[in-house]
Amino acid sequence: MDESVAAALEAAVAADPSNTALRVHLAALLVLQGDARRALEHAQAALAVAPDDIAALAAARDAAQASGDPAKARAYARLVGPAEPASPAVSGRPVPVGGDDSDPDAHDGEDEVEVERPCVTLADVGGLEEVKARLDSAFLAPLRNPELRRYYGKSLRGGLLLFGPPGCGKTFLARAVAGELGAQFFAVGLNDVLDMWLGESERRLHGLFEQARRAAPCVLFLDEIDALGQKRAQLRHSAGRNVVNQLLAELDGALADNEGVFVLAATNHPWDVDTALRRPGRLDRTLLVLPPDQAARAAILAGALAERPVDGADVAKLARQTDGYSGADLVHLVEVASEHALQESVRTGELRPITQAHLGKALKEVPPSTRAWFAVAHNYAVYANEGGQYDDLLAYVRQHKLL
Ligand SMILES: Nc1ncnc2c1ncn2[C@@H]1O[C@H](COP(=O)(O)OP(=O)(O)OP(=O)(O)O)[C@@H](O)[C@H]1O
Ligand SMILES: [Mg+2]
Repeated sequence: MDESVAAALEAAVAADPSNTALRVHLAALLVLQGDARRALEHAQAALAVAPDDIAALAAARDAAQASGDPAKARAYARLVGPAEPASPAVSGRPVPVGGDDSDPDAHDGEDEVEVERPCVTLADVGGLEEVKARLDSAFLAPLRNPELRRYYGKSLRGGLLLFGPPGCGKTFLARAVAGELGAQFFAVGLNDVLDMWLGESERRLHGLFEQARRAAPCVLFLDEIDALGQKRAQLRHSAGRNVVNQLLAELDGALADNEGVFVLAATNHPWDVDTALRRPGRLDRTLLVLPPDQAARAAILAGALAERPVDGADVAKLARQTDGYSGADLVHLVEVASEHALQESVRTGELRPITQAHLGKALKEVPPSTRAWFAVAHNYAVYANEGGQYDDLLAYVRQHKLL
């Protein structure tokens, strides 16, 4: 009964993608049904339309919690309050680092910034060859070759904006860059900085950059930059505008030297990012992170299956059948196939490996998620293609006959 309700809501959302209330409702239902991942997608899509919608924030918090991502749940909870029953949320993985002017205040300021040393490297990222090459020439090669850098007078700083459909590896790629360098990696989601209630966002942002400067060389990753650096004209509150101005000042190094701090930013909505953020010296290069091609899909699928019991899976075939699937979709597909194998083991009382049949069944259940993004992106690309900034995107849409 619930499932048909969810299906009807899915259809309604598809017909009216910007209907926040509908998405929030669907997200709550999906959490109850155990599909937290899909619930989170809907909650985030709702937030993309209405970033400060309380119900959507709460839905995102609950979905993140249910999908086993306590750090993300905590970040949303900070904006909207904790879920009941309140969870103290110990994330375990990243090590929190105290800031310099750590004050004993209840709002834990710089402590929010989590530092990690990722162990994934660029070799773990399937496909995206062009993106990797750009990263290499902009940052990795100069870092590895200090003599050449001095010879060409190239400074070791820079900024790069990654954009593209959800789940295609922007965050993964940023972590891999840090892993590649053995460098520290500071990941900041909008929620770490935008402190709507307390108005201390600028201080936090400054603390964050200071922390990164002390740790140079390092990668400072600003995720969901559209929320953080929205077009200043769109921001209703002057507080929000101050945050953008603060970010511009930090990127310019007006307050301190940014040598050795490489700023990577990511967004699903590049058209909402303040153009001032994209000027030379700031996030001056923009790279489109596309869904994986067939070879990359094979690599991602093989990677996801690597540590599981598999028997006779045809990865190459599956890669051919999954055009339009994001990396995250593929990982999810393998997850679903594993569940089927697990259920079968429970049913039969003997251990069953994952087979092509399980994968085929999962393929029918997991749809590709990138099309919806391209439908929206295409409009912006057609009507706001200043300076040819969306040429790559248009070429991809045309080539894959997405519209
Ligand atoms: N190219 C890839 N190679 C290997 N794994 C990938 C790749 N792309 C995505 N994945 C897998 O999908 C997961 C989700 O990707 P990621 O979080 O980087 O997406 P994203 O582009 O940042 O999405 P969003 O826009 O929603 O933040 C990764 O943790 C990884 O497991
Ligand atoms: Mg991401």
